[in-house]
Amino acid sequence: TWTMVNIVEEQVERIRAEVGTKRVICGLSGGVDSAVAGALVQRAVGDQLTCVFVDHGLLRKGEAEQVEKDYVAATGTTLKVVDAQERFLTALSGVTDPEEKRKIIGREFIRVFEQAAREIVAEAGADDEEVEFLVQGTLYPDVVESGGGTGTANIKSHHNVGGLPDDLQFTLVEPLRELFKDEVRRVGEELGLPAEMVWRQPFPGPGLGIRIIGEVTAERLAVLREADAIAREELSRAGLDRDIWQCPVVLLADVRSVGVQGDGRTYGHPVVLRPVSSEDAMTADWSRVPYDVLATISNRITNEVREINRVTLDVTSKPPGTIEWE
Ligand code: XMP
Repeated sequence: TWTMVNIVEEQVERIRAEVGTKRVICGLSGGVDSAVAGALVQRAVGDQLTCVFVDHGLLRKGEAEQVEKDYVAATGTTLKVVDAQERFLTALSGVTDPEEKRKIIGREFIRVFEQAAREIVAEAGADDEEVEFLVQGTLYPDVVESGGGTGTANIKSHHNVGGLPDDLQFTLVEPLRELFKDEVRRVGEELGLPAEMVWRQPFPGPGLGIRIIGEVTAERLAVLREADAIAREELSRAGLDRDIWQCPVVLLADVRSVGVQGDGRTYGHPVVLRPVSSEDAMTADWSRVPYDVLATISNRITNEVREINRVTLDVTSKPPGTIEWE
């Protein structure tokens, strides 16, 4: 629509004026805000932008590929991918406490991103160009909430962690500062971003790390990723994406129960489906997903994911239950 075209053109002009000939870095998380912010900056200053994607191994099935392939194809952006999966698994090894997990994931994320930023700065230095700007996908509601001031370099992003060290300071570019979420999505569509990214439901920064109750391991992540993909596929197929705010799938990795699957007795794990309806995630109600959709999800998960022999439904509102289990 003409309004979206106007917003894009206006922001592109603004970014060009702000950035000039300097270099820009943008961290991509897989989520819509950073994707749209990065695409706007790319449209404005092209090769002056380098995007960074830290693959912490906690994204859902297909999401890393979406960033690395589809997003790059759609935007033509220069992308630096850091495969940090081993590093995150090592840091999370033996950890079961939810807050501890969040702290570790946030801390490692900052360290890895910082290293990548340093490398980009160093490489740019060779070209005698200066990296000076960092893109943030700050939305209007975030601006209002934080009192409206212009930020200094602070990778709050989706990890809600502190800023970069003093010797690595950037000026922020925040092209989404005046937009609400639905406008951001429409700008993303206007820019031709992959639909899965543009319409992605909320997903926490710590990712699947806080949807495995118990220690996070590579095997458990693989199991949860499969179960989650099936739930997402069936909810989409049933046309429920817009009705449901989000549907975490939670792996109770330390719980086992007896089942009969295929040829015999199994001793597997349960997953919990947590579909919720919400306006703003502050409160939520459990979604009344049709029984036949639940049945299909349950059948498919227990048939296709060997380690899971039971599927349960969370029927708790928020409050008292939070949306995520950790
Ligand atoms: P809770 O579990 O608190 O979640 O009811 C409310 C909303 O926030 C998301 N969530 C997070 N998002 N970083 C994020 O960016 C986080 O650490 C985090 N924890 C929860 C959750 O998915 C829900 O949409």
